[in-house]
Amino acid sequence: MTRLRFLITPTPVARGEVIENIQCMSCHADNENRLTGKRMAEVPAIFGMVYSKNTTQDWEKGIGNWTDGELIYFLRTGIRRDGSYALIMPQYPNMVDEDLQSVVAWLRSDRFPVQASKPEPQASEFSLVTKLLTHVLLKPLPYPQQFITFPDTTDQVAFGRYTADAIGDCCACHSSDLVDQDKIHPHRT
Ligand code: HEC
Ligand code: HEC
Repeated sequence: MTRLRFLITPTPVARGEVIENIQCMSCHADNENRLTGKRMAEVPAIFGMVYSKNTTQDWEKGIGNWTDGELIYFLRTGIRRDGSYALIMPQYPNMVDEDLQSVVAWLRSDRFPVQASKPEPQASEFSLVTKLLTHVLLKPLPYPQQFITFPDTTDQVAFGRYTADAIGDCCACHSSDLVDQDKIHPHRT
């Protein structure tokens, strides 16, 4: 099993924690701040009853037995290792490789939210609308064919744009159409 390929040193873990706080915690953390998953009450009812998943290090309920590669592939494309496709969970096609690796390093770290924990929410009950949309608009994304590297980190506008687009996924909720979006080129829609 390919594990711990990414260095779990303070720097990636700290960067991964920043990204988790911007992104993942709001959908996956329970009221004790553990990443056990929860009901996503704010998702519009038209999508159905949506629950996120346990992403703690628990081997059985969480992602303890996922490889680093399986996690990265999932975060880029939305496709799980069993081939199924996660809905509502954002994809991160433009996140810099090093940032994705930092997210994985954090998920593997000793931080409180990711420590193995058993509770898990029930499975989502996606509406017919959501299921139909997956065939046309909410499709899995292709895995990038090239490495994705940081924009010029001294250019604050470029770095802010990267953070908003590739990490914060701001367009997902703030663009004019909630469904018909180009995730790879968010400003085209
Ligand atoms: C907008 C809410 C939202 C955000 C933000 C989000 N997730 Fe999710 N995530 C979900 C939902 C909902 C599912 C379950 C989808 C399903 O049931 O098909 C999920 C599923 C997953 C899974 C699959 C678990 C399994 O057992 O199948 C992993 C791993 C995961 N998310 C990790 C992350 C990480 C890491 C981040 C941050 C980089 C993140 N998620 C951000 C909502 C979200
Ligand atoms: C999951 C959906 C979602 C995401 C992702 C999201 N937002 Fe929002 N945002 C909202 C909603 C809904 C509101 C309105 C909240 C309210 O009125 O209480 C809002 C409000 C705001 C406001 C306040 C606007 C005003 O007129 O009061 C700003 C600024 C903002 N968002 C910026 C961002 C940025 C920057 C990002 C990316 C880092 C982002 N949002 C990501 C859903 C989202």
